[in-house]
Formats: sequence, C-alpha cells, structure tokens
Amino acid sequence: MRILFTGGSGKAGKHAVAYLLAQGHRVLNVDRVPLKLEGVDNRIADITDAGQIYDVMFSYAGFDELEPGTGVPKFDAVVHFAAVPRMLLTSDNECYRVNTLGTYNVIDAALKAGVRKIIFASSETTYGVCFADGERKPEYIPVDEEHPVVPEDSYAMSKVVNEVTARSFQRRSGADIYGLRINNVIEPHEYAENFPAYLADASLRRRNIFAYIDARDLGHMVECCLQTDGLGYEVFNVSNDDHSVGQTTEELIAEFYQDVPKKKEMGQVETFYANEKAKKLVGFAPRHTWRDVLDQR
Ligand SMILES: NC(=O)c1ccc[n+]([C@@H]2O[C@H](COP(=O)([O-])OP(=O)(O)OC[C@H]3O[C@@H](n4cnc5c(N)ncnc54)[C@H](O)[C@@H]3O)[C@@H](O)[C@H]2O)c1
Repeated sequence: MRILFTGGSGKAGKHAVAYLLAQGHRVLNVDRVPLKLEGVDNRIADITDAGQIYDVMFSYAGFDELEPGTGVPKFDAVVHFAAVPRMLLTSDNECYRVNTLGTYNVIDAALKAGVRKIIFASSETTYGVCFADGERKPEYIPVDEEHPVVPEDSYAMSKVVNEVTARSFQRRSGADIYGLRINNVIEPHEYAENFPAYLADASLRRRNIFAYIDARDLGHMVECCLQTDGLGYEVFNVSNDDHSVGQTTEELIAEFYQDVPKKKEMGQVETFYANEKAKKLVGFAPRHTWRDVLDQR
C-alpha cells in the first residue's frame, strides 16, 4: 500500500513506520522533523496548516514517482500519529489546538483526496484515569471500549474530540476510520531501563491501569487495521496481554482495585486494559512482553 503517515518521526511512529516498511508498504512520513530511516520518504509539514496537509495529500512521495509519467498516485491509507503527545508539554490550549485542528485537517484532506482507510492515534487517557487530579479508579475492570470517556485534561479532551470528529467524518464518507486507544508505548530498550522500577513499585503504573504496549506490537496493530476493511468507524484499545508489573491480577486487585467491579473472570496476569476487541475484529496478536527481557520479580 502507498501510505501517508503523520508523526512518523516520533517515539511510536518510528517503530510503526519501520514495521510497515518491513511489510512492503511505501510510506511517506509527514512530520515537522524527518525520520532518518532507510526506505522512508519524508515531507516536512505542519498538520495545523490545512494548506500544507492538502498539498502533501496530493503529492509525489519521491522522485521515482515522476518516472511513469502518469501523474501523482493516490494514497491507499493514512495513518495519523502526529500530535502533542501528552499534557504538560505545551500550554493546555496549544495542545488542544494542535491535536484537534490537526486531526480535523488530516481526516478532511484524506477523505477529499479519496482515501478510504484512515487510522488515527487516540489514547488510554480518554478513560480519565491517567491524567486525573488525584487517584481515579476505572469504573470497572478490565477497561474495555465501552468504559465511559470523561477525562479532565486538555490532551485527553482533544483525543475524545478527535474520536467524535472521526466518527462524524466516517458517517458522511462511509470510509473505514479506526481509532487506536493506545496504552503507554514502550520501546524495546525501555524494558531494561524502566521496568526494574515498575517491578519494585507497581504503584508507578497505576495511572496506566498497569498496562503497556510494545512499540513493535503497535506497528503490528496498525498493519492489522490496514488489512481489515469494512468495519466503518471503530475504536480499539491497544495493549499487550499482560500487566507491566510483576504482581498477579489477584494481587493487584487486592492492593489497588478492591472496590472496583469486575466485568469478567481474568487470567493470572491478564491486562486490565482489555484488548479482546482488537483481537476479535482485526486479528491483533501481540508478540512481545517484558517477561522475555527481564526476570520476573
Ligand atoms: N507515547 C505514548 O505512550 C502514547 C500513548 C497513547 C497515545 N499516544 C499517541 O500516539 C501518537 C504518537 O505519540 P508519540 O509518543 O510517538 O509522540 P512523539 O511526540 O514522540 O511524536 C509525535 C510526532 O508528531 C510530530 N508533530 C507534532 N506536532 C506536529 C505538527 N503540528 N505537524 C506535524 N507534525 C507534528 C512531532 O514532530 C513528532 O515527531 C500521538 O498521537 C500520541 O498522542 C502516545
């Protein structure tokens, strides 16, 4: 597929782009900074400037595309990751502006360019636990896509708004638009760097509902979405199968979630961030776990 990928130079995007290139796709990365990776084409553009986004949506990806003499080819899919990726990086209103306006521009331009598959990054923070003032527990566990989304910070608000925007664009266009409620992204080198602290103190992961997503498995999820047509508008939790801490499900419930209703019986180390919908609808099958890298406890 010929894919326009926004935000491919970032933490999550660079792994997803590498994964997509390995599957044989052509990727044009649209970002404010280039991704230095063999095989990827880069275009510098700002997602908040509609003119720039419209331009890249109707652009050649590289010089080789001049050769056939048949004009600019169409993108088969757009993957939209570019964003201010959390609270406390910019002013709250700037975060909200970049994320909501940028997402509006990218989806609008993609649909008007005739793209029929759009995948965009939403976030675990929509559930309101991650960036709550004080401790907020999930309303039930495991947290699935039916869980209410009522966050209180501008970053997560922007992601909820983006989901509403995407759903409305989908209704008018009939295209496939899938939102990924991505949990905390972990790059391969971060297991050795960060997980020993998580194993020593599980409370460090309370705001992530004790979950995580390996950056390579996130790339695999994007590929699953590219390969699955006809779902219309859907959102998917994206997480690995196990907790990001050493405790069992039972131990974590005893320590953190005693008063939280349980929606179903759970496995010994099964994530509280339910990924069953992604498995069922698009064939998501995460392969990585910190347990392959570190001794357990
Ligand atoms: N990292 C996580 O744990 C996590 C969790 C949930 C959701 N997400 C979402 O996943 C996506 C990627 O996150 P990340 O961690 O890779 O963030 P990142 O900041 O590392 O990457 C974001 C990329 O977007 C680009 N960008 C920002 N503003 C732009 C603009 N106006 N125009 C063009 N490009 C712009 C940046 O240059 C950067 O390369 C984001 O949408 C983020 O909200 C991330």
